[in-house]
Amino acid sequence: MATEPALAIRQRLASDHHRPRYHFQPPCNWMNDPNGLIQWNGQYHLFYQHNPNGPLWADMHWGHAVSDDLLHWTDWPVALAPTSGGPDERGIFSGCAVDHAGTPTLIYTGTRGEHYDIQTQCIATSDDGLLTWRKYPGNPVIDRVPAEAGQTRDFRDPFVWQEGDTWYMVVGSRIQDVGGAVFLYRSADLYHWEYLHPLLTGDIRRNGITWECPNFFKLGDQWVLIISSHMGTYTASVIYFVGTYENHRFTPHYEGVLDYGTLYAPLTLVDSQNRRLLFGWLREDRSLAEQQAAGWSGVQSIPRVLTLDDHSRLNMSPIPELATLRGQHTHYGSGTMAAPLAVGGLALDLEATFEPAATEPCGLSLACSADGNKRTDIVYDPATGQLAVRKITPELFDITTTQIRAVPHPLAAGEALHLRILLDGSVIEVIANHRTSLTSRIYPLPTDDTHLRVIGGQALHALDIWEMSSIWPV
Ligand code: FRU
Repeated sequence: MATEPALAIRQRLASDHHRPRYHFQPPCNWMNDPNGLIQWNGQYHLFYQHNPNGPLWADMHWGHAVSDDLLHWTDWPVALAPTSGGPDERGIFSGCAVDHAGTPTLIYTGTRGEHYDIQTQCIATSDDGLLTWRKYPGNPVIDRVPAEAGQTRDFRDPFVWQEGDTWYMVVGSRIQDVGGAVFLYRSADLYHWEYLHPLLTGDIRRNGITWECPNFFKLGDQWVLIISSHMGTYTASVIYFVGTYENHRFTPHYEGVLDYGTLYAPLTLVDSQNRRLLFGWLREDRSLAEQQAAGWSGVQSIPRVLTLDDHSRLNMSPIPELATLRGQHTHYGSGTMAAPLAVGGLALDLEATFEPAATEPCGLSLACSADGNKRTDIVYDPATGQLAVRKITPELFDITTTQIRAVPHPLAAGEALHLRILLDGSVIEVIANHRTSLTSRIYPLPTDDTHLRVIGGQALHALDIWEMSSIWPV
């Protein structure tokens, strides 16, 4: 049977209004973490955790897509598949890409064993412009977790960088009964690795059992470590540490939360404009049966440009390139806006500013039904200093389900509330004042929900709404 071309699959699924139109996702089936981000000859390469045979997590491969502008992507063939009898026979887990003296090189975790019990670090290279990949015959290049970790199978997601002639790698793991850990390695040739020590160890009671997907990089004159903290439950979050790095020792002086919602396992790269860009997996928020029925699962965030502010907080802005997708624009100045606005569709980019003196809750209701009963509120309460996403779904017999996720967002005296919201089908990315990120998925979503309301309109200073065009030629 001929394989259905990627674009035909995209076309077939395009009528599903839960599917984003301007966020990347594969033509169909399962996707999780971004992997192997690299810019090569000007083009951006995005690899991703992928099950090419179904919409649920299993049998990990690396999918591959290529872009000139970080927005419009071309599907390339699957880059890495498990090799029977090899160190990655149970799955190709997450990893990164580097330019090794002109050779594109992927460094990833190979897994073996029924429960993915054996996790080792492996290498693959390409000599045809990143199209096909050859696994290093000497894999794995790191075959065991450091002894001080104790009995753990969690040892994955290598992140590699170069300082002078020396390569460094961090790997996500944990130390038994202590907490998450990131282990630091060094190599002269990228293939032979020497273990140094833990770069950082967590606290099992506070920030998780296992740390996944570490990223470690210099930003301005400080160093940033990002980890995805797996608590052993559905609750998992992305944490960052900012500090100094001397003699291979990292001393953090600030700890923050990169995202409070569904963004997980982010990966960063530096591009030719010297920007530190971050992609994250936006997890689903619906049942496995619904994901199975939909035929797809998982979305990548719009890439964000990372910077640090004067308080060592990570600041994030969606890439400026996103403005090229903006279509019809509506602007509102200050004043009360009582009536719901009918806005075109579920693919919107919004920017809103509310006066610092607001005393009542303020924000926006998105994807509202005409009567306003069914909606998703993004609301800030000055009394508690909390930002919340509130999903309200009236069901049969007038029972209303409300799901609330409220997170701390303290504003400085006199600081206005700034909201940047990317709505795209079932995806909502909210970034408040460039530093508090609260991503969500909204399910179920009636197709005709195209209204928008302002909450606490008296405090509104400015609201800009852009309708966004699709990134796919379908
Ligand atoms: C994070 C993660 C990684 C692992 C991959 C497997 O979401 O669990 O630690 O490499 O996903 O798909």
